[in-house]
Amino acid sequence: MSNPVSQALVIFGASGDLTKRKLLPSIYQLFIQNSLPKKFLLLGASRTAFSDLEFREKMMEFLPQDNPKKLEEFLEFLHYEPIQTDNEKDYYKLKERLESLCKEKEVENNYIFYLSTPPSLYSIIPKHLATVGLNREESHFRRLIVEKPFGTDLESAIYLNKELIKYFEEQQIYRIDHYLGKETVQNLLVLRFANAIFEPIWNRNFIDRVEITSAESLGVENRGGYYEKSGALRDMIQNHLLQLVGLVAMEPPVEVEADTIRNEVLKVFKAFKPFSSDEDIAKNVIRGQYTASNIKGKPTKGYRDEVGVAPDSRTETFAALKFYINNWRWSNVPFYIRTGKRLPTRVTEVVIHFKNSPHHLFSGGKELPQIHNQLIIRIQPDEGILMKFGMKEPGAGFVTQPVNMDFHYNTLTDKQLPSAYQRLLLDCMIGDATLYSRGDTVLEAWKFVKPIQDYWMKEEAPIYGYPAGTWGPYEADELIEGEEQTWRYPCKNLSNDGLYCEL
Ligand code: BG6
Repeated sequence: MSNPVSQALVIFGASGDLTKRKLLPSIYQLFIQNSLPKKFLLLGASRTAFSDLEFREKMMEFLPQDNPKKLEEFLEFLHYEPIQTDNEKDYYKLKERLESLCKEKEVENNYIFYLSTPPSLYSIIPKHLATVGLNREESHFRRLIVEKPFGTDLESAIYLNKELIKYFEEQQIYRIDHYLGKETVQNLLVLRFANAIFEPIWNRNFIDRVEITSAESLGVENRGGYYEKSGALRDMIQNHLLQLVGLVAMEPPVEVEADTIRNEVLKVFKAFKPFSSDEDIAKNVIRGQYTASNIKGKPTKGYRDEVGVAPDSRTETFAALKFYINNWRWSNVPFYIRTGKRLPTRVTEVVIHFKNSPHHLFSGGKELPQIHNQLIIRIQPDEGILMKFGMKEPGAGFVTQPVNMDFHYNTLTDKQLPSAYQRLLLDCMIGDATLYSRGDTVLEAWKFVKPIQDYWMKEEAPIYGYPAGTWGPYEADELIEGEEQTWRYPCKNLSNDGLYCEL
């Protein structure tokens, strides 16, 4: 692939955590792989008063030190301009600096503006950029990357969208959802649409239910303050998990092109069956909060004891939903999604549960458990695909037992999979918005979760405790319909499951 055209990347909030932990390391990896534009520069902009040199020194700490020559070369790209992000006047200064740097380094005046600031600045920065004309695409491109959260509810997201659209065209706006940048999430598209065997059975006739889990073993760490106002529904479900549902449930697109794919995702979101009443929500949406416990003999704090969290907090650290997609393909197929912090392990996966065989040929007249075919698409860790089906036990008779057929991504390559940010930053540099969320889809997702948000504001809405290190509240297990049916309890390794395994 050829390198992106010459351009500059401006990061607002450059002294913040995301820049150090994710953005700079990803840009460095792009540099190491020779994927950055040949003529490139990065300008950090934040309140902290750094010089270029100080900024480089600070960032260096977060980059791999194994190749000092390359590292030195990379640091040359980095520059810094202290600005009061909410002060219009500073944008004249920023523009001047950007233009003079580009001139000096022979970089074209194509710009990406990355908003990695507190969300309260997401509508202010674009406005000030527009004041100094940095939004206008005449002979050069101007792109805006907006970090999550994109609003905190439907109203704030509509407002933010309106503000952005005042200054930038939709095709200039890249709303980041880092789940879409994950290699195995993209593989979902390839699995579904490059293999003719799946599409004919990918519907209500053959699929019993779809389950998506995104579990984390960590707690809220040092983000208690942010998380208190967010909770699992806003933090993970409205964005990452619904986007995954979009890719699992969408119709085959006619081409791999940003709007074609996003139109299909939008259609899925529009078909979500809305929750009809508080009772409906209480029955089908379970929220939980982790309580203090011992994990592997280590005392672990409850959520309410975390820094920045109210002692009587009702913020959910776990959420599980059962819902339907009202369209021809998915009519009556329940979708179950769950996410939580302080669960037994870190895992994200999609499980397609197929219907049982219609005739129980091998039960020998006895009530034996049915073989339950499952296709598991493992997003992380141990990325891969697992198919579960029944095989005959060797020996007399026809006793069947479930077995695994598995593919692990790491057998394809010994290279490190690119990080989500690496992939997404590169896509924006080449102007490909396929893996970024579009405004209408984001709003549709907020529309779907709105009744849940409203209900949870009410005092009578329950929140269930679960001991840190367990799979969430018992009530979440009750969501799954059918005798002896339950969530898959995944382990660290793709092929293993069950309550007893290495975590
Ligand atoms: C972020 C959430 O968007 O995603 C975090 O704000 C969460 O709370 C993270 O931990 C999970 O991402 P990943 O890539 O580690 O699964």
